[in-house]
Amino acid sequence: MCGIVGYIGKRDVAPLLLEGLQRLEYRGYDSAGVVVTSPKAAGLKMVKAKGRVRDLEARVPKRFAGTTGIAHTRWATHGAPSDENAHPHMDAEGKVAVVHNGIIDNASDLRAKLTAEGVEFLSETDTEVLTHLIARNDADTLEEKVRQSLKLIEGTYGVAVLHADFPDRIVVARNGSPVVLGIGEKEMFVASDVAALVSHTRQVVTLDDGEMATIKADDFRTYTTSGTRTTAEPTTVEWEAESYDMGGHDTYMHKEISEQPDAVDRVLRGRIDERFATVRLGGLNLDAREARTIRRIKILGCGTSYHAGLIGAGLIESLARVPADAEPASEFRYRNPVVDPDTLYIAVSQSGETYDVLAAVQELKRKGARVLGVVNVVGSAIAREADGGMYVHAGPEVCVVSTKCFTNTVVAFALLALHLGRIRDLSVSDGKRIIEGLRRLPEQIQQILQAEAEIKKLADQYADAKSMMFIGRVRGYPVALEASLKLKEISYIHAEAYPASELKHGPLALIEPALPTVAIVPDDDLLEKNRAALEEIKARSGRILAVAHQEQEKADHTVVVPKNEPELDPILMGIPLQLLAYHTALSLGRDIDKPRNLAKSVTVE
Ligand code: M6R
Repeated sequence: MCGIVGYIGKRDVAPLLLEGLQRLEYRGYDSAGVVVTSPKAAGLKMVKAKGRVRDLEARVPKRFAGTTGIAHTRWATHGAPSDENAHPHMDAEGKVAVVHNGIIDNASDLRAKLTAEGVEFLSETDTEVLTHLIARNDADTLEEKVRQSLKLIEGTYGVAVLHADFPDRIVVARNGSPVVLGIGEKEMFVASDVAALVSHTRQVVTLDDGEMATIKADDFRTYTTSGTRTTAEPTTVEWEAESYDMGGHDTYMHKEISEQPDAVDRVLRGRIDERFATVRLGGLNLDAREARTIRRIKILGCGTSYHAGLIGAGLIESLARVPADAEPASEFRYRNPVVDPDTLYIAVSQSGETYDVLAAVQELKRKGARVLGVVNVVGSAIAREADGGMYVHAGPEVCVVSTKCFTNTVVAFALLALHLGRIRDLSVSDGKRIIEGLRRLPEQIQQILQAEAEIKKLADQYADAKSMMFIGRVRGYPVALEASLKLKEISYIHAEAYPASELKHGPLALIEPALPTVAIVPDDDLLEKNRAALEEIKARSGRILAVAHQEQEKADHTVVVPKNEPELDPILMGIPLQLLAYHTALSLGRDIDKPRNLAKSVTVE
């Protein structure tokens, strides 16, 4: 949520920062700003604009030279999107500029105190409080000014600070919101996400919570907020700069949907052990003996990751016969959960940054639980906090709505379920059956993607709906939940998901010709039950679009998907519905990659 980018070196900084902001725009896009300076400049120059990075770019004057700067793209928390509330925030003298991700919980108290001392606030943001604290601090060094000011703050932050009296450095700090340093040749970068850095350097240092850094053009040092030096070993970012580009597609969402055959191939690669009909998951840090003692598995995630967790729980129950369920992490953390030593907790997150998930993990660890992470972003906060886990290897996902990460996360759960199953009671032949099914997935996904033109036609026909119903049974229900979330996120069409079995307990009252239903109808032991639900809808003149393994007589339209093993079918059934949401949103002229009111990583409560 929100993006930070900064640079110090010899190059003209404004174009660099604007390019970095473009790459981070998916993290927040309601306003943006940039501040620059240089060793010989007299002070800081700042431009801010409500709207997108392109609106900021249009405002940057021709003469805006500088070789050091920080910039920000915002997703509003305190104060509406406006020029004034956009970051950076400066003090009255224009000496200090701050960009900040996160939330300062005690901002109102600090604002009241500073106001009583005569400070005039120009914005409604919590961040401006920090700017004034730093500007009023009389320590000799910028590091000390920032350090002492952060001590007064409660809450989360990733911050970057520029000071006119110290133009040779940028000071940054992290607590709960990511900060990454990028090491170049006589130049240094800082960002909240490697996406902003990789076109310049792949050598990075990720700060830990409670860590600060001073970056200069040819040097950097890291230390804690208590002032103790820390050692920071640079690592190499796994992905090339091109992985963050649109690669010839019109939108990131389309690119990411199309990448799924390769992405699934990646999550499987090197993990299958044909000899023992199982998989090798080295990062779990859970040996066979420990795995056998697990009595229950609880999966925690938010949004799409929660839906992937629901399918994961089903896979674990059916393949490993361990009771498993999934719960939104955002709920779990607030209900003082009973933490059971025999339960294995699994935190799921694409970004590895989602605050609700991270907070749930921290609470669980504090209570002595064992927590695994199923995460996409390598080295992210949740991945580091967990006792072990699996990366889903989907590659960078830029579109705000998650597609390939959902699919890869479910495949990762299938691997975990197989692994646990083979340690417990899953037979060799069932292990082989699942492995063969997993191996078929990339090609079958490709087959579904080839039906895009047909799905687009259907989307055009259903795009006039004001509301849509999604139904599925057992394995199909989380698919319905996820498909309904996809549709509402990017098309803004209201959508509800229900277990098909629940229709007659209430939602059937909604059925009429104007409310289409999307039904998940796999060819499994529940086929007849699902068909009965279609009958009930048809009897009330409802329109039906079925996703099934064979044409459905009662449906107005059927998207036929290839059949895999019943346990793995949800993976394939979700894919045409990603395309349905995509083409519905496209035909309604929506901003697909940047849906209104949302941002990619929700790093606030
Ligand atoms: O990064 P995470 O997987 O933890 O994110 C969780 C949700 O915020 C995320 O899945 C959200 O629901 C997406 N917009 C779904 O498309």
